[in-house]
Amino acid sequence: MKGLILAGGHGTRLRPLTHTGPKQLIPIANKPNILYCLEDILEANIKEIGVILGDHMPEKVKELLGDGSKYGCKITYIVQGEPKGIAHAVGCAEKFMGDEPFVVYLGDNILKSGIKRFAEEFEKSDAEASIALCRVDEPRRYGLAYLNEKGEVIKTVEKPKNPKSDLAVIGIYFFRKSIFEVIKNLKPSWRGEYEITDAIDALIRKGHKVQAHIVEGWWKDTGKAEDILQANHLVLDDLEPVNNGIMERDARINGRVSIGEGTVIRAGSYIKGPAVIGRHCEIGPDAYIGPYTSIGDHVKIVETEIEGSIILENSEISCGGKIVESLIGKHSIISSSKGKVPAGRRFIVGENTRMSI
Ligand code: TTP
Repeated sequence: MKGLILAGGHGTRLRPLTHTGPKQLIPIANKPNILYCLEDILEANIKEIGVILGDHMPEKVKELLGDGSKYGCKITYIVQGEPKGIAHAVGCAEKFMGDEPFVVYLGDNILKSGIKRFAEEFEKSDAEASIALCRVDEPRRYGLAYLNEKGEVIKTVEKPKNPKSDLAVIGIYFFRKSIFEVIKNLKPSWRGEYEITDAIDALIRKGHKVQAHIVEGWWKDTGKAEDILQANHLVLDDLEPVNNGIMERDARINGRVSIGEGTVIRAGSYIKGPAVIGRHCEIGPDAYIGPYTSIGDHVKIVETEIEGSIILENSEISCGGKIVESLIGKHSIISSSKGKVPAGRRFIVGENTRMSI
C-alpha cells in the first residue's frame, strides 16, 4: 500500500498565516500539521509516500520533508500546481500509485487515533474505497455520508439543510486504481473544483462497494484559525512533559509543561500546563504562560500573560496585559506604547490581519 498527502491548496481562510507558507506547515503544539499526517501513515506501515505540491511555496514542504529518509520513508513529490480540487490532486498521482491500493490524507487534517486499524481493514476488504467518517455535533456544517444497514456508503451529501446522518466525511480516504478512471470523467462542481465526494458517488453509481470507517476520538480539519487553536488544545491534552530549560529563581511550573533546550524561564514567571515552549526562548521576567498555549522557538515574552494561544517562532511580546485565544505569526512584535507620545495604539499590520482590542 502507498500513501498520498495533499499539501496543495491556497489556504485563503488562514491568511495572513499562509502568506509565509502552506497551511499544512502551521505548527500544532509546535509540530507542523503535515508531520502528524506523515506519522499516522508511517504507523500504518506505509513507507512509499507521494506528496502533492501546490503553487504556493511548495519548496517549504520539500525543505521540511526532504526525500523522507529522516522519517524512515521514501517521499516522491507530485506537482499539482493550481488547486483544482481534491479529486484533481488525487488524479495527479495515478502514475505514482500504479496498481497499488493507497491512502489519501489531507495535510491539514489531524486525528487522535491514527489510521493503522483502518488500513488493515481496507487491505483485507474487497471494497473499492473506504472513507473515514467522524460523528459531529452540527452535521449541517459538513459533507455527510449516508450508510446502508451493512455500513456501506450509499451516498454523500454536502452541507444538507435537513441532515439524515451525523457522520461527517473527513480528510482520509482509501482507494484502489479504479478511482482514476472515475476522476477522469468528473465535471467540476458549482465552485469550479473536482470534488472527491463526486468521485466517491460515481464509484457507488458504478456498483462498486465503498466502505466506511468511523474514527474513534477526535478529528480536526485545521482550515481556519479557530480550528488550529482547537487542534492545539486537543493535542496538548496528551502532552508528555519534558523540561530541558533553565529555571531562574522564583520561576514556577505547574502541570504538564514541555520546555525545549536553551530556553530560560526568568524570575517571577509562572507556566501552567498543558503548555509547550520551544527552544531558545526567553520567558519573563514576570510572564505567565497559561494552559493550552504553544510557543515556538526563539520567542521572547516579557511581563505579559498568554493563555490558550499559539505564538510562532521568533516573535517578541512585551505589551503587558493578557493575550487569550490568539494565533500570532512568525517574527511578530507586540510591544507596549506606554509612555510614548502621542499616546495611543501603534500598528503595522499586514493584509488579512484580524485584531480584537
Ligand atoms: P481546502 O481546505 O478545501 O482548500 P484550500 O487549501 O485551498 O483552503 P481555502 O479554502 O482556505 O483556500 O483543502 C483541503 C486540503 O486539500 C488541504 O490540505 C489542501 C489540499 N488541496 C490540494 O492539495 N489540492 C487542491 O486542489 C485542493 C482544493 C486542496
